[in-house]
Amino acid sequence: MPERGVRPIDTADLGAAAVLHARCFPHEPWSRPSFEQLLASPGVCGWLAPSSEQLDEASLAGFILLRIAADEAEVLTFCVAPEQRRAGLGSRLLTTALPRLRLFGAQRVLLEVAEDNAGALALYRRFGFEEVGQRPNYYSREGERVDALLLACDLP
Ligand SMILES: CC(C)(COP(=O)(O)OP(=O)(O)OC[C@H]1O[C@@H](n2cnc3c(N)ncnc32)[C@H](O)[C@@H]1OP(=O)(O)O)[C@@H](O)C(=O)NCCC(=O)NCCS
Repeated sequence: MPERGVRPIDTADLGAAAVLHARCFPHEPWSRPSFEQLLASPGVCGWLAPSSEQLDEASLAGFILLRIAADEAEVLTFCVAPEQRRAGLGSRLLTTALPRLRLFGAQRVLLEVAEDNAGALALYRRFGFEEVGQRPNYYSREGERVDALLLACDLP
C-alpha cells in the first residue's frame, strides 16, 4: 500500500512539480517541458504527496522522480516544500517508492547529493543509503562549485 496521500505522479502534475522544484532548487530550476520529457522517457516513474485533496500548483507538498534501467534505479530529483519539511513527507515518499522499484526489477538505487546537504544525507542514511563515490565540482551554486557524494542502497 502507498503511504497515506502518496500517489504516482502523472503528466497533469508536472506544472506543480516544476513550481515546487524551482522553490526547492532555485539554482537549477527545471521547466515543465523538461519534466514532461523526463516522465515520457523509458523507465521514469515518480510519486507525489499532495498537501490537500484539491491538487493545484500551490498544494503540491513533495515528489520524487526516478529512472529504472535494468537492475538499477536512480533518483532524478526529490524535494519537499520548505514549509512542510521535517513532518515525515520525504520519508513517506521514499517508503512508497523504494519497494516499488524492487517490484519493477531494480536491485539497487543510486543518487547524488551535495556533500553539504546534511538534511538529505541524514534522511538517506536512515533509509540505508551508503556512500560509494564522490563527484568533485558536480553542482554549481552562485558561481561556486560543490562536490556531490554518490550514495547507493541495495533494495531488500
Ligand atoms: C531532503 C528533503 C526531501 C527531506 O524531506 P522531509 O520531508 O523534511 O524529510 P522527513 O521529514 O521525512 O525527515 C526524516 C528524517 O530525515 C532527517 N532529516 C531530514 N531533514 C533534516 C535536516 N534538515 N536536518 C537534519 N536531519 C534531517 C531527520 O532524521 C528526519 O527525522 P526527524 O525529523 O524525526 O529528525 C527536504 O529537506 C528537501 O526537499 N530538501 C531540499 C531538496 C533536497 O535537498 N533534495 C534532495 C536532493 S539529493
